[in-house]
Amino acid sequence: MTTMPDSTTTERAAKLLREGKLVAFATETVYGLGCNALDAKAVARVFEVKGRPSFDPLIVHVCSIERARTVATFNPLAEQLAAKFWPGPLTLVLPKKPIVPDIVTAGLDSAGVRLPAHPLAQALIEKAGVPVAAPSANPFGFVSPTRAEHVREQLGSKVEMILDGGPCEVGVESTVLSLLGKAPVILRHGGVTQEELEQVTGRLTSETSAQGAARSPGQQLSHYAPGKPLKIFARDGELPKERNRAGLLAFSKSREGFVACEVLSASGDMREAAANLFAALRRLGSSDIDIIYAEAVSEHGLGRAMMDRLTRAASKSV
Ligand code: TXA
Ligand code: MG
Repeated sequence: MTTMPDSTTTERAAKLLREGKLVAFATETVYGLGCNALDAKAVARVFEVKGRPSFDPLIVHVCSIERARTVATFNPLAEQLAAKFWPGPLTLVLPKKPIVPDIVTAGLDSAGVRLPAHPLAQALIEKAGVPVAAPSANPFGFVSPTRAEHVREQLGSKVEMILDGGPCEVGVESTVLSLLGKAPVILRHGGVTQEELEQVTGRLTSETSAQGAARSPGQQLSHYAPGKPLKIFARDGELPKERNRAGLLAFSKSREGFVACEVLSASGDMREAAANLFAALRRLGSSDIDIIYAEAVSEHGLGRAMMDRLTRAASKSV
């Protein structure tokens, strides 16, 4: 459930951002580690605190379409997509305007821009009066945070403030769509599904794995390490034999023999499953098991983003 700190707290956080400090805050997707996007020094600290390689650009968060137009150049398709999907979990990669420091975009002449739907994120950005650069608020390579306590556990002492907006409703990061070429390309599957986007764009291609690395530098990296080795198995396939030291990440129903089990949605609802994914992975990662077995989900709708994150978690074993 979405919650809001009182307006004095949000005001204080906005002031910290203006002063070049770091504030972690809730969005509808995952918690972000925010700073003033126009302050290169503050942005450098975000990279440092997160341990993020400097070639991986940050998303610039804004509180209105008008503000988005001050950081990037919109073409007619971008306008159409923003009108339909903003505020919401869609990041548009567009030619950047000179006002955005190079460090934000890792030297690229494009910027990823997003207008988040969470009222807390919107209030914070509006009160700050500046665009807010924010990666997910996890140390580099780990599972993204979907609760304030996830941020507190991993980055607590390193940020000036954490704005708690409750558990994230979407639970997977925004979809990253590049509008730089002739045809739009999905660089990361996320909260807005390919099917939803295609209603506006027509058939889309995606470059979300190693081949997409040249365009979306963050995508070449293994991510989402839950702290335990993870293996994916087919839902109707054979169950893993070694279960007595294993945890199960199940889509809708638990299975016998595992010492720990997380069911993502008892009713089989994909939205609910996506919203629970990262918190469930964290719990399994910190339980007394040797390995996590994750049930594959079908790759349509939000299932694409979920399988992308699970595949990355599986590619990095600890
Ligand atoms: O939902 C989200 O997008 C969250 C919340 C906090 O808004 N943020 C997030 O940020 O997931 P981060 O930094 O963890 O992931 C941003 C992704 C990376 O894969 C990065 O490479 C890509 O967006 N990206 C950002 N700017 C880009 C650009 N100019 N060109 C291509 N890819 C870009
Ligand atoms: Mg991230």
